[in-house]
Amino acid sequence: MSKIKLKELSHLSETLLIPLTARGNETLHSSPVIKDEKSLEILSQIDPENINADGGNISTHGILARTIIIDQELNKLLLQNPESTVINLGAGLDTRLNRLDNGLLTWYDLDLKEVIELRSLFFAPDNRIHSIPKSVLDFSWIEEIVNRENVIIIAEGLLMYFSEDDVKIILQELSRHFPKSHMFFDVVGKYFVGKGIHDSFLWGIDRAKDIENFSPPIQLIQSWSTGNLLKERQSLVIRLLNIFPATKNRSQILHIEL
Ligand SMILES: C[S@@+](CC[C@H](N)C(=O)[O-])C[C@H]1O[C@@H](n2cnc3c(N)ncnc32)[C@H](O)[C@@H]1O
Repeated sequence: MSKIKLKELSHLSETLLIPLTARGNETLHSSPVIKDEKSLEILSQIDPENINADGGNISTHGILARTIIIDQELNKLLLQNPESTVINLGAGLDTRLNRLDNGLLTWYDLDLKEVIELRSLFFAPDNRIHSIPKSVLDFSWIEEIVNRENVIIIAEGLLMYFSEDDVKIILQELSRHFPKSHMFFDVVGKYFVGKGIHDSFLWGIDRAKDIENFSPPIQLIQSWSTGNLLKERQSLVIRLLNIFPATKNRSQILHIEL
């Protein structure tokens, strides 16, 4: 069977290959920190052509760290409220639902139209699992979310590609429509703004607590600096980056209440 080509994707959407590849490669590692057979299955069916799907050692470490933390924290919330609604912003070819589905939750994957079309080739529809082919900035997507209680929002590998003003608008809209909901996302440090793989990062913060200034009701519940995670898998370069103030908080995972 011929492989699926990814020609229609923008540079920004091509970034979905980086976490997919990181999770797939990790599954083949001799002592994997995550096992993700679905990512491997997808990778075997697509032809990335000339797109660089390997984010390198630093990016891969950050992706594995955020995958583990968000899986773990989402699992805890699902144990408290098994019928939660999860909204996955910038879903790409994310496979988290394959790992965490409890048979009771409702799940929404939101991404640009061409990405949702690509996703539909690998993920079967279900009456609890919905796709929204819209930009996160087209806030008409919010009307599609029926339940507004026990909502958990994830935005992995997404917000760093938006300007600070757009991030503020997104967080303010989310606070307005989903008050008290939990949200998990990763942020890059300011030093990395203007850098990036495939597309430049436009926004970053150094102090996790600063996120509370983006929309008044926001409360930081917890943050994790990836430099403190998966120490056994840190290369010499990563350990050096952990020392310098500019790169110490290069990537953080934030858990906020909206
Ligand atoms: C680095 S990938 C992350 C994919 C996925 N969250 C993961 O971790 O595997 C970034 C994703 O954000 C999506 N994206 C970019 N701009 C977007 C927008 N305005 N609205 C919704 N999704 C967007 C891209 O299409 C891509 O799928």
